[in-house]
Amino acid sequence: MTRPLEAVAIAHPNIALAKYWGKRPFGHNLPAVPSLSVTLSGMLTKTRVAFDPSIAEDVLILNRAEAPAHETKRVRSLLARVRELSGISYKARVESTNDFPTASGLASSASAFSALAVAAMRAAGLPDDASQASDLARKTSVSAARSAFGGFAKLRAGVEGDVDLPAESVAPAEHWDLAVVVAVTREGPKEVGSTEGMQHTADTSPYFPTWVESAPALFARIEAAVLARDLGALGPAVEQSALAMHAAALAAAPATVYFTGATVEAIRAVRAMRSRGLEGYLTIDAGPHVKVVTRGADAKEVARAMEEVPGVLRTIITTPGEGARVIESA
Ligand code: PMV
Repeated sequence: MTRPLEAVAIAHPNIALAKYWGKRPFGHNLPAVPSLSVTLSGMLTKTRVAFDPSIAEDVLILNRAEAPAHETKRVRSLLARVRELSGISYKARVESTNDFPTASGLASSASAFSALAVAAMRAAGLPDDASQASDLARKTSVSAARSAFGGFAKLRAGVEGDVDLPAESVAPAEHWDLAVVVAVTREGPKEVGSTEGMQHTADTSPYFPTWVESAPALFARIEAAVLARDLGALGPAVEQSALAMHAAALAAAPATVYFTGATVEAIRAVRAMRSRGLEGYLTIDAGPHVKVVTRGADAKEVARAMEEVPGVLRTIITTPGEGARVIESA
């Protein structure tokens, strides 16, 4: 064998400070709005990819069990692109584990597809290239493009004619001592996946065009506040980005509701916390969990406050982490 056929990569989820929600209608999985996220070290996906001449189909083992067909299909789409780029024809066995709830709105697809892209590229003998891994991941899961990079990463909106669109680094992890406290409100899988939820929003919500129109200005405020390390400027824009995204989803017909009672209690608790002088700002993805962006030094106190909220099961303290990377290869 002249080139390695097996590799293991790890990646972290990212939490969008400026949300992506909705695709362009030009194909190629292009986002309708620019987004900016922080890659988080407290949660991890580990993925092994082995191209194997003895198997007839790609196989996905997710958290030690055979994966559902729709997950396997998305993995195959990424592997097919890696085969095309590398000239390898073998099918692959993919084993992936998450140390946090899968498909629950904790951004597991972001870490999953960025880890998969990086491991599959190395296993297929392609050179390590964060931009290429980011673009490959983005073609299957838009938010995954950003986890190819550590620290703070952005992804511009797609324009007609785009085929390749990788995320870009805004600042490395050590740029800013921020923390994101995740208040977990449910351990099971979410009811409406992000792909389905955003498509339904784009198809039926009268607020979707307004969301697409207003998102770039919020994105610009968020990028400037990250670069300036200004939490007081960042926080209100982060909250507005998340709640505007949910407002668009809530105005769909029928409404897409990711909130539970605990989500709403947690929103109120973050506001109450601020009025007591503890500075933290919330964001919410396509699930019921509430994430609080705060200073590293305040993270424990914020976590304690969130654990008091009725319906919050536990908290996870995360801090800016590294991008997706290979940890083992044959
Ligand atoms: O790329 P997807 O399908 O995982 O969508 C992610 C959507 C949000 O998490 C809600 C926002 C974002 O930008 O990550």
